[in-house]
Formats: sequence, C-alpha cells, structure tokens
Amino acid sequence: MKDDRPERTRSERFLKERKRTRHFFNLTAVIYPLIERHLVPRYEDALARLDLPPALTVLDVATGSGILAAAFARRGHPVTGLDFSRRLLKRARKKFPAIDFGAFDLVELAKMPAKSYGIVSCGYLLHGLSPEFRATILKNIARIARHYVVVFDYCCDGGWFVRLIERMEGPHYPRFIATGREAEFAGAGLRIERSFRTSPFGDAWLCRPE
Ligand SMILES: C[S@@+](CC[C@H](N)C(=O)[O-])C[C@H]1O[C@@H](n2cnc3c(N)ncnc32)[C@H](O)[C@@H]1O
Repeated sequence: MKDDRPERTRSERFLKERKRTRHFFNLTAVIYPLIERHLVPRYEDALARLDLPPALTVLDVATGSGILAAAFARRGHPVTGLDFSRRLLKRARKKFPAIDFGAFDLVELAKMPAKSYGIVSCGYLLHGLSPEFRATILKNIARIARHYVVVFDYCCDGGWFVRLIERMEGPHYPRFIATGREAEFAGAGLRIERSFRTSPFGDAWLCRPE
C-alpha cells in the first residue's frame, strides 16, 4: 500500500527513533564485552558455514563494536563498518585498527550508490527498528548489495534477560520475533537463499538481492 503521509513527517518520526537509539547504545557500550563474548563465536561459526568468496567487499551496517566486521575481515574480506554510536565506534577502532570504520547514520544509506558492495551485512540491528524504518533500511541494503545480504537477528524469544534489555532499547522486539522474516525480506527485494540457527534464539539469513 502506498504511504501518502508527507515525507517530512516520516523523517521526523525516524529522527525521534534514531535519537533514542543512539542514546541507548552510547549508554550501554560498557556492557558490550559481555555481548561480544556471546556473539563472536556465533558470527565466526556462521561465516564459516556460509563460506562466501573472500574477494567480495563487505559493508557491515550498524557495526557497533565491529565484531561482525572483524569476523568477515579474518576470513579475508575487505570490510567497511558503519555506525552512529560514538562510544561503540571508539571501541571498534581500538579493537580492530586495520578495519575502516565510519560514523554514519543509516538514513544516509539512501544516498549510497546501487551495487557498491559485494555483501551487505547487519547483526542484531533489525529487531530494534520500527517496522517502517526497518522496511526502508532493508530496501536500501538490498539496493547496495551486489551479491549477498547477510542478516543476524533474533528468531524467537530469548528469555527474561533479553526481553528486559530489548524493552530498554525500545518497543519493537516483541512484534519482531512474532513475525516471520520471509515476507518482510521479499517486500524489500530480498530472497532468502539459506537460513539456520546460530543460538537458541538467533538465526542467520543469507539473502540474494533480486
Ligand atoms: C544491537 S547493536 C549490534 C551491533 C553489532 N552489529 C553487533 O552485532 O554486535 C545495534 C547497532 O545498531 C546501531 N544503529 C541503530 N540504528 C542506527 C542508525 N540509524 N544509524 C547507525 N547505526 C545505528 C547502534 O548504534 C548499534 O551499534
């Protein structure tokens, strides 16, 4: 269905959402070592299973402290990581000085040229976005990727601790885990080629832009 609301109102809604998200991630950067301990082995195992050609360039959007970007880099991919959390980017640059990290707000993805990276990846970004902003981001990711889009996120309920953290981040997680990804990805022009469980509550999706 066509969205007839004025473009300005839409950007205002996105702006409010992004301000809150940036504040949350700057504030919670201190607990990232804990999150990294859980995610790093999962990212590494999943990328080993996917075994994508290392010559493909990677754009890791919402890179946070850079752990997914670094997992791609260790497999030989040239990688760029983008995020808007100053604190997480500082951590990423300190931990992985050889990777190119940039301060970037994802609304700006709309300005990036089509098919400019072999792979576009995002780890645990989507569940935190409103359905409307998520659809916009996914369409841009699909447009920028030449060969693959790799997504990591929740597949199902992660228990009380995850629910608590995600409630602090924002209101979108419960609806995100209650809906399937296939229709949403298809709506953005992405076809799921493979998907598999990476943890009791996380999935990896390998998609092809159509
Ligand atoms: C849950 S963290 C995941 C970080 C990283 N991908 C990982 O797997 O560890 C979500 C990230 O999305 C970033 N993010 C959310 N909205 C964004 C936006 N509009 N522009 C740039 N980064 C954004 C946050 O700053 C945060 O680093």
